[in-house]
Amino acid sequence: MAQNWTPSSWRQKPIQQVPDYPDLAALAATEERLAKFPPLVFAGEARRLKSALANVAEGKGFLLQGGDCAESFAEHGADTIRDFFRAFLQMAVVLTFGAQQPVVKVGRIAGQFAKPRSSGVEKQGDVTLPSYRGDIINGIEFTEEARIPNPERQIMAYRQSAATLNLLRAFAMGGYANLENVHQWMLGFVKDSPQAERYRKLADRISETMDFMKAIGISAENNPSLRETDFFTSHEALLLGYEQALTRVDSTSGDWYATSGHMIWIGDRTRQPDHAHVEYCRGIKNPIGLKCGPSLSGDGLLELIDLLNPANEPGRLTLICRFGHDKVADNLPRLIRAVEREGKKVVWSCDPMHGNTITLNNYKTRPFERVLSEVESFFQIHRAEGTHPGGIHVEMTGNDVTECTGGARALSGDDLADRYHTHCDPRLNADQALELAFLLAERMKGGRDEKRMVVNA
Ligand code: TRP
Ligand code: MN
Repeated sequence: MAQNWTPSSWRQKPIQQVPDYPDLAALAATEERLAKFPPLVFAGEARRLKSALANVAEGKGFLLQGGDCAESFAEHGADTIRDFFRAFLQMAVVLTFGAQQPVVKVGRIAGQFAKPRSSGVEKQGDVTLPSYRGDIINGIEFTEEARIPNPERQIMAYRQSAATLNLLRAFAMGGYANLENVHQWMLGFVKDSPQAERYRKLADRISETMDFMKAIGISAENNPSLRETDFFTSHEALLLGYEQALTRVDSTSGDWYATSGHMIWIGDRTRQPDHAHVEYCRGIKNPIGLKCGPSLSGDGLLELIDLLNPANEPGRLTLICRFGHDKVADNLPRLIRAVEREGKKVVWSCDPMHGNTITLNNYKTRPFERVLSEVESFFQIHRAEGTHPGGIHVEMTGNDVTECTGGARALSGDDLADRYHTHCDPRLNADQALELAFLLAERMKGGRDEKRMVVNA
């Protein structure tokens, strides 16, 4: 076990991004209640994810991680979950086909509620109120009452996560994700999009392969890997009181696990090595993500790697790089070289969302071409360095929203007002997400052919 660590040792460290709960006794009582609730995930599942990610770290797989910037109580419902899941499955199938490698599927879902903010307060006109910090903490409405942090919301977030996870498990294991349904994952509004034809062609090829396999005796009925998929959950471990309450000892190994989700990550704003968030994460055994932004130096990264993954286990640590389309070339090579020099085993993932946010017509948005451009650079840099571009981390939804500009339908700044629903950052809609998946598949295919040429030379 990590030295001098307990589920509550983070409380002795400096901490960023803490809500100002007015009633600390009520907060403590809520945390006590949560500590008695059943875990949301099982330690064995987190270990399974870790070993899938270990393959990715060794260049034998690709991580697809995506979902809402922030889940909300208002948008909770079966349709939202189903639409997200099928957009996600479409991306996964495109990537699996493109990379001819296993795709590790991790949602930003069933727990992604707490948001770090650049300022503790929000000003509208001459009214100043505490910032919205995510539905698990306070309400988004700009009223004094809504903005007071309320511990009861943690119970609601827990219950919503349990219900969401329950449906996702049913979809993943109960037949919905069966590859025989590959044509049916097409969403109504994606059907007439420019991506639809491309997707249909790919789905036809998969169906044809499935028919061939059936003819030789391999079918979804006798082969679970054709009809089921491993789907994992993840979120930013920001609200540490909630995380602590769901931290449990795994009876089979005696190790501590975060049971709020399979994978949790540390944000770019809360990754100080001697602060609370790193302290909490170093002691649990789950796979961990670390957001890496432009202010992180090579040495700073190595220090964090030693704290979070002292045994250098592949699959334990995923570096989620979020630099911005114009900064990735200046920052990523430095980090890759530091990691390679010290022989550290990590998964390199690209978050092309958070470094590319701009304001247009008073809306926070992300130009889709900049998202694509960061992904392209990420791939090129890894090819040049001889390392594996192991994954992607995106904010996306299955809904037909207008939050990011561009894409094949060329959404403009004037379209943003139409269906701008996000509670936090702008997300790719299902169309844009699928377009991104096709681009990724092409790049991965390129890398594969290149490798083959080297082998044949
Ligand atoms: N079980 C395999 C996997 O998860 C194949 C598979 C089944 C699949 N259903 C899927 C792949 C849906 C992508 C999408 O990779
Ligand atoms: Mn975000």
